[in-house]
Amino acid sequence: MTAQILDGKALADELRASFKARVAALTQKGHRPGLVVILVGEDPASQVYVRNKVSACEAAGLYSEKIVYPADVAPAVVLQKIAELNAAPNIHGILVQLPLPPHFDEKAVLEAISAAKDVDGFHAENVGALAQGNPRFIPCTPYGVVKLLEKSGIELAGKEAVVIGRSNIVGKPMALLLLNAGATVTVCHSRTRDLAFHTRRADVLVAAIGKPRFVTAEMVKPGAVVIDVGINRLPPEAGGKLCGDVDFEGVKEVARALTPVPGGVGPMTITMLLANTIEAAEREAGR
Ligand code: GUN
Repeated sequence: MTAQILDGKALADELRASFKARVAALTQKGHRPGLVVILVGEDPASQVYVRNKVSACEAAGLYSEKIVYPADVAPAVVLQKIAELNAAPNIHGILVQLPLPPHFDEKAVLEAISAAKDVDGFHAENVGALAQGNPRFIPCTPYGVVKLLEKSGIELAGKEAVVIGRSNIVGKPMALLLLNAGATVTVCHSRTRDLAFHTRRADVLVAAIGKPRFVTAEMVKPGAVVIDVGINRLPPEAGGKLCGDVDFEGVKEVARALTPVPGGVGPMTITMLLANTIEAAEREAGR
């Protein structure tokens, strides 16, 4: 068997094209969607992510601004900026790129963002709404995964879904979304005993681990749908290429469907950030 490749890039392009009319309508009414991305420090991966987020906004016609602070900035300075942005009528989304330097209380920063502008969906109020099954802002990566599954006609109700990873950014919200869609959900993590026992039972397997090619063909049930959330850079001696958490070449011979890296979940993440920011502007315009 050779798996169907789930093309996140194509769906991302399609969705972004569909946003144009919504952005134009909002802009015409004086509510051009606006996103501010805050970056603290010089982590190279974060710099790339932030640059991509800002340029995707610009390409979609949104207003977008990047604010960069040195790694040793006082947390009070960032909190003060967030307070200003919470009150700024032209800004509908505020995103603080994670991870923050160790002297920051990450939770306090995320809670300082107005829940109505929390386009990452990381505020406790939005996490709670998702857990209750009435989401307001869904975290962008798991939201993108669900959209890609929907588009591919992959039914979730009644399926065994296994998520590897329990982060607040991906694993936990992913598990909640799968649960809300009617799947029977298992969340595995670094302390899980006999990981392969669980993964081999999965009809839908989501890998959000951060280890290159960690999920091998032997860990996958024949005919499963495998979603690779990982973005890992191989060391220069291994070619320096991007690769996922899934051993693509091996798993594609076992799975029914599989996301590639790059071109799978990655392009969907930023697309759902645009969707959340446009949604925030539409809510504001409708008030
Ligand atoms: N760091 C890695 N992924 C994300 C994300 O989706 N949002 C934010 N704010 N930081 C991240």
